[in-house]
Amino acid sequence: MDEAALKALLPGAIAARASSARLADGRAIVVIDATGLDPAAREAMEQAARAALEAHPAIAEARIAMLAAKTARRIIAVGSGKGGVGKSTLTVNLAVALARAGHKVGVVDADIHGPSVPTLLASAGERPIARDDKLMPVIGAAGIPALSMGHLAEAGQAIAWRGPMAAGALGQLIDAHWGDVELLLVDLPPGTGDIQLTMLQKYKPAGAVIVSSPQDLALIDARRAAALFELGKVPLLGLVENMAGYACPHCGEISDPFGAGGVEAAAAEMGVPFLGRVPLAMAIRTGGDAGTPSAATDSAEGQAFAAIAARVAARLTEIG
Ligand SMILES: Nc1ncnc2c1ncn2[C@@H]1O[C@H](COP(=O)(O)OP(=O)(O)O)[C@@H](O)[C@H]1O
Ligand SMILES: [Mg+2]
Repeated sequence: MDEAALKALLPGAIAARASSARLADGRAIVVIDATGLDPAAREAMEQAARAALEAHPAIAEARIAMLAAKTARRIIAVGSGKGGVGKSTLTVNLAVALARAGHKVGVVDADIHGPSVPTLLASAGERPIARDDKLMPVIGAAGIPALSMGHLAEAGQAIAWRGPMAAGALGQLIDAHWGDVELLLVDLPPGTGDIQLTMLQKYKPAGAVIVSSPQDLALIDARRAAALFELGKVPLLGLVENMAGYACPHCGEISDPFGAGGVEAAAAEMGVPFLGRVPLAMAIRTGGDAGTPSAATDSAEGQAFAAIAARVAARLTEIG
């Protein structure tokens, strides 16, 4: 069922407000504009939409995200306990998936030691210009505006900023001309250092997403990152498991090189929502290297990112 067919299942007044709709594995994910509705009307609309969708035999479950237009920009921090778990990959793909669902999204790459957003969004080598003492974001792949430490340094040059300088540079990336961007996704460096603390104290994220691979060691560090956000009173939107389950390109057999289900179990144990899992997939890495994010496609990987984006959007609505 395509988007139009899904929307056609909704009562007219609701369909007019549906900004995106997709169906994967029997699960429908629909984003509805809740601007101007009071809480009771919003709840009623959500229930009516769910009932209409779940009445269809092809839809086992309907997930509805009711989003109200807000002019205030919200910062979403994406963190991880350790590097190499796919934090930057998730940040960029989440941004693309959220943009596809109708959100105005920007990306700040706060990873000063390993900036990778320029590559992931095919904007390496571009230099942001300044206007009125503020930076103008670079427009990357899929039209996503972004600013990275990597855009400010010469390519291939090591960035050896000390804490305070790095924190100052981060400020320039965040206090830039973000225009109508509503959700600013910040790709934090791994761990719990200076940048993360500055972020919490000065820029007060509306919520944080934590990424982990299923390995025990990554999970222990992810718990530490979660504890830092909780200490800073930043609501945890949830945990994402990345590099889960590898489908053999030859025989299709699914194997779990780093274990399976560990992140979901950890989320349950921590009392934090589990936002979903992203498979270990060659296409995600090659898309990253080429600056063509998988989330811009309708592939299985793209759908995984779309599902996570829908849950992030729903969580944002939930926490208000
Ligand atoms: N789900 C995935 N499937 C395949 N490769 C992935 C996946 N997630 C990340 N990678 C690859 O793993 C490497 C590290 O990812 P990256 O996003 O840079 O991690 P981090 O920002 O946490 O250091 C990159 O080469 C990236 O393309
Ligand atoms: Mg990174």
